[in-house]
Amino acid sequence: GVYGPVLAIESSCDETACAILSPDGTCLAQRVVSQDGHADFGGVVPEIAARAHLALLPGLVQATLHDAGLTAEQIGFVAASTGPGLIGGLIVGAGFGKGLALALGKPFVAVNHVEAHALTARLPGLVAGGAPFPYLLLLVSGGHCQCIAVEGVGQYRKLGGTIDDAAGEAFDKVAKMLGLGWPGGPELEKLAQEGDPKAIPLPRPLLGRAGCDFSFSGLKTALSQKLAPYGHTALPRQFAADLAASFQQAVADVVADRIEHALNMMPEAQLLVCAGGVAANKVLRARLEEVAAAHSLRFAAPPLRLCTDNAVMVGWAALETCQEAAARGLPHPDDSTTRPRPRW
Ligand code: KG4
Ligand code: ZN
Repeated sequence: GVYGPVLAIESSCDETACAILSPDGTCLAQRVVSQDGHADFGGVVPEIAARAHLALLPGLVQATLHDAGLTAEQIGFVAASTGPGLIGGLIVGAGFGKGLALALGKPFVAVNHVEAHALTARLPGLVAGGAPFPYLLLLVSGGHCQCIAVEGVGQYRKLGGTIDDAAGEAFDKVAKMLGLGWPGGPELEKLAQEGDPKAIPLPRPLLGRAGCDFSFSGLKTALSQKLAPYGHTALPRQFAADLAASFQQAVADVVADRIEHALNMMPEAQLLVCAGGVAANKVLRARLEEVAAAHSLRFAAPPLRLCTDNAVMVGWAALETCQEAAARGLPHPDDSTTRPRPRW
């Protein structure tokens, strides 16, 4: 189980990222490029993303090595997200990582991107009091929306997930209906500050229903019906703000209810962790803190730069996987023959 620093790569969506962590989890350097070629299309275009990863990665990896003051030869092993995600980007990241590892004669470790989000809270020093297993993870981003019982490294139980849109996707679509830019979540939150969350009645899909699945498409449809009378004319500012606030409130109510159920399904949880871009939403965060407090649980949301897609989480998940293997007396993992798995 002796190995040097890990060089990690993330390329599963529209963030191209590289990080170098020492074996104890200290981040020596990290860089993230949020691709800017997608905004005009109102969403991530897979082919554009894959080409951008390809163009960005070599320089990004070199710059990250430079920041860390290391040469490639001083790297202990290479890791990359190999799924789930957009296949083009995964092929680029995994191919680059495997090629680098092969050239250096070092192992390559394939990381599940969702597992990386799930283990982020365990980065040393991130959460006061640490994040011992088991804990409940709410992962809410543009691509993910699920409740996961995190029971150990490699041991996850999906308690529930979305049956249609991811939470961030719903924020983005509603923001688009309101004429806001992309990604819409942050802009919608800003507009909502001027609005009344009780002004416009909207449904609370699945509220009170058994289990902890999510649904957002009905909410989206209800909102589009409120907009219909305006056709193509511009929305009055106050009406748009009231809609934004009412939508945000409905999402927070639904998520709080679902988490309430998830916690009842997982009474052994010591901690509630919220990750993913939507975790940045202050109204949602405040509701989740209330739910956790009512269950006498600690609540943790990693800082935003570690909540959204990044390579630090990939490196950390790889280190935890290697430590777990060492603890079981297994050799250092080497996944150099693994293939990207878009639906892993
Ligand atoms: O984790 P992330 O950066 O990448 C994906 O996996 O997509 O999450 C991005 C998502 C977008 O849908 C964005 O609109 C949403 O997170 N988001 C927010 C906020 N900030 C980002 N949603 C609601 N409120 C926010 N403040
Ligand atoms: Zn992600």
